[in-house]
Amino acid sequence: MANKHAELKLSKMLHGADYNPEQWPEDTWPTDMELFAKAHCNVASVGVFSWAKLEPEEGRFEFDWLDRVMDMLADNGMRALLATPSGAKPNWMAHKYPEIRKVMAKELGYFGSRQNLGREPQGIRHNHCRTSPVYREKTQIINRKLAERYKDHPALLMWHVSNESDGGECYCDFCLAAFRDWLRDRYDNDLDKLNHAWWTTFWGHVFTDWDHIAPVDLSIRGMELDWRRFISDQVIDFFKSEIEPLREITPNVPVTTNFMSFFPTLDYFKFASEVDVVSWDCYPDWHAPEGNIHIGQQVALDHDLFRSLRGGQPFLLMESAPGAVQWRAVNKLDKPGMHRLAGLQAVAHGSESVQYFQFRKGRGSAEQFHGAIVDHVGTSETRVFKSVADLGECLEKLAPVIGSRSSADVAIMHDWDSRWSLEYAGGLGRKFKEFMDVIYAHHRPFWLGNIATDIVNGESDWGKYKLIIAPMMAMLHPGQAERIKKFVSEGGSFVTTYLSGIYNESTLTFLGGFPGDGLREVFGIWNEEIDALHPSETNSICFEQGNSLGLAGKYSASKLCGLIHAEGAEVLATYGDDFYAGQPAVTCNSLGDGKAVYIASNNDADFLAGFYGALASQLAIAPTLSDMPEGVSVTKRSNGSGDFYFVMNFNDSPQVAPLPEGQSYVDLLTGQAVADKLELTTYGVAVLK
Ligand code: GLA
Ligand code: ZN
Repeated sequence: MANKHAELKLSKMLHGADYNPEQWPEDTWPTDMELFAKAHCNVASVGVFSWAKLEPEEGRFEFDWLDRVMDMLADNGMRALLATPSGAKPNWMAHKYPEIRKVMAKELGYFGSRQNLGREPQGIRHNHCRTSPVYREKTQIINRKLAERYKDHPALLMWHVSNESDGGECYCDFCLAAFRDWLRDRYDNDLDKLNHAWWTTFWGHVFTDWDHIAPVDLSIRGMELDWRRFISDQVIDFFKSEIEPLREITPNVPVTTNFMSFFPTLDYFKFASEVDVVSWDCYPDWHAPEGNIHIGQQVALDHDLFRSLRGGQPFLLMESAPGAVQWRAVNKLDKPGMHRLAGLQAVAHGSESVQYFQFRKGRGSAEQFHGAIVDHVGTSETRVFKSVADLGECLEKLAPVIGSRSSADVAIMHDWDSRWSLEYAGGLGRKFKEFMDVIYAHHRPFWLGNIATDIVNGESDWGKYKLIIAPMMAMLHPGQAERIKKFVSEGGSFVTTYLSGIYNESTLTFLGGFPGDGLREVFGIWNEEIDALHPSETNSICFEQGNSLGLAGKYSASKLCGLIHAEGAEVLATYGDDFYAGQPAVTCNSLGDGKAVYIASNNDADFLAGFYGALASQLAIAPTLSDMPEGVSVTKRSNGSGDFYFVMNFNDSPQVAPLPEGQSYVDLLTGQAVADKLELTTYGVAVLK
């Protein structure tokens, strides 16, 4: 691919917030600038949701206010992430052009149909039709105006395109027509191909006319999967249309849009190839009952995703909450130290910013009680403001880290296609909701063991990893099985689980035994059946004496247990109970220099910890720093000026972290020399060079 990407060149870590001065009287603006400076902020996202203010009537544009905002930012040494406003459509537009409002549908039962609910009323946000020609046109017009007006403005740092592009699901006639075009393209304009891929002879669903196709029949699983893909593609296609004028007028200004965790309906691997810099919005539920260690691990995996999407390139933390959010059932405050830990955790995993929603807490409407740098009291004399300013100072000290990268020997596979296929795959997929839980569960031992991880999908370049873990890899892309075979025969280790290698890219099952498409030979097993366990039931997993991983003991399995036959693989563990007691439960097949491991059931956390611990040491995969107390996380970023170790304490108590003997470091945050051991306060962080 030609390099069409604009580069973000930073000399300092970015620190800032969504800034909506248009919601406030202009005489507050100078105070805002003072407060931004006091909070050690250097960027502001401006214009998010400002369309009604920028174009109050069709074709009448008002940029004066934004000129003053941009000038003021520049005069105060700040840069702007200038937003395009498509995240919320103006009232006048939705009334004049009702087609820009989405048409929603409701799912009526399992195997049921989708009932059209008609057009959404105007209001809320993020609810425009991505196909509507007029919305695309209006978006391009306003974006062109913004680009023309601010292309040479000294404040302009980046484009913040729209906001949290989500859903995208719309059942209007434009979208249905676009879906049919998308299908014609996918199936080479050949209805027979489509009918075969969707297995439409079942229940006599054969399509004889493209125009009869509508994503309203939940029983055609292949169609559902294609509809999912289309929705994601259409959001990306809208984004591409939206940025056309920006690319044309400001080719050197980087473009980003804020992503959201492992978002269920958007394939971020695809989306990321269209942006210059990945950014995301991170709102962890710190201090929730599951505990900060658990939450810290999940957020770490999220950050790893966003770093991985563009091959390890640094990303931006676009939004986070200073203080509590307002949309959870229980909106807890960050306890002292947590704000700093959370912000630095992002940097530890590859971010080059900490930004917030929002600068000034609104006086009214939907988010009036959402955390902000400046609370309703309006001063810097608040606990939250001080913690923001403190983090800003920390970020200033981390300038040397800019541009550094991290590397990982281990990759966890999360493939949106495969995840969607589980969602729509009937029987097997009824457990789909646990897919992300399973991903997080397999990642946990690595985070706890301070072993770095990347995230890949079924089509990524896997060459640099020693170990790939692909839980519930139900769907295989064309050629994926061959690539797994190659990866293993060249010395890689590949771990998969129950519900893997079940069907092809259209959800047509592989014939001839699971895991299919040749993986049966690679893993040296045949998974004949899968037993589902009620929540009250468990089975047990017992390691075989003298197994090659040197593991022993008994663990618990729940939810799904695959009944497998070893066909050449070493049996590492067997089931302890039920009619399949004694049958293999965990196997390892050697192929060339590599290993293909199959975990047939959903096993408990102790199993995963023991199993991955043994596997990592067998594969000589070393922790970033060893012997850390549980919940002290260490990541490493490196660049020409050195290695930076981020040591972070997620415990609700102080900890002492042992450091490698004979090494001395400087903590960039305190400037102090550190050797032998590091004392960490509750939620304390050190950045050791
Ligand atoms: C999202 C949005 C923001 C705001 C925050 C609140 O991240 O992008 O506009 O609504 O949530 O947490
Ligand atoms: Zn539509």
